[in-house]
Amino acid sequence: MKKIWSVLVAAALIFTLAACGNSNSNNTDSNEKGTAEFTGKALVVYYSSSGNTKRVAEFVADELNADTFEIVPKEIYSDADLNWRDRSSRVNKEHDDVALQDIELVSTEVPNWSEYDVVLFGYPIWWREAAWVVNNFIKNNDFTGKTVVPFCTSTSSGLGDSGNNLEKMAGTGTWLEGRRFNENPSEDSIREWVRGLDLE
Ligand SMILES: Cc1cc2nc3c(=O)[nH]c(=O)nc-3n(C[C@H](O)[C@H](O)[C@H](O)COP(=O)(O)O)c2cc1C
Repeated sequence: MKKIWSVLVAAALIFTLAACGNSNSNNTDSNEKGTAEFTGKALVVYYSSSGNTKRVAEFVADELNADTFEIVPKEIYSDADLNWRDRSSRVNKEHDDVALQDIELVSTEVPNWSEYDVVLFGYPIWWREAAWVVNNFIKNNDFTGKTVVPFCTSTSSGLGDSGNNLEKMAGTGTWLEGRRFNENPSEDSIREWVRGLDLE
């Protein structure tokens, strides 16, 4: 009787260890599908007027071991400038007059730009489009040979045509379907999205 029990316990132990082994290898697989398989050089370029897109950009960069480049306007937007409820605010004036959307940037030149295979491009949605602050970065850079992945944050609007319109403005690069995040998405949802991109 004792012998039967020891055989049963041993069998149960072997079964449990095998199951653990499987679940470990599953975890490794899912990790490998993400960052581990990406061997190219990635850059996260972003503009963020109040920090939401910056937070997403930092998790994206961390997941890919990527460098970051922040688009900074020469004249930073104050809270009053960003108040879209105020008809006389800076954003409203710029929204109403396309000529005012030519925003001077501190820099549009990324060090070693030619070395990057993949550019993840982040921005806030303003009036259902990419904030026009990013336009001069897009117009001043050649995306030839690069895979570009747009992402944005917004209160409720989707990505809409914002990614396609940036692609047209750029005129170069292979642009993938982008992703919209809410204003404060979970770290997990950001990392999962990056892993699912299957970047090469
Ligand atoms: C001028 C302006 C216009 C906006 N327009 C929209 C909009 O059309 N749809 C929307 O869902 N959110 C809109 N928002 C909210 C922002 O997209 C959202 O707060 C975003 O996360 C801000 O990102 P940031 O902190 O990186 O600048 C707008 C915000 C501002 C300041």
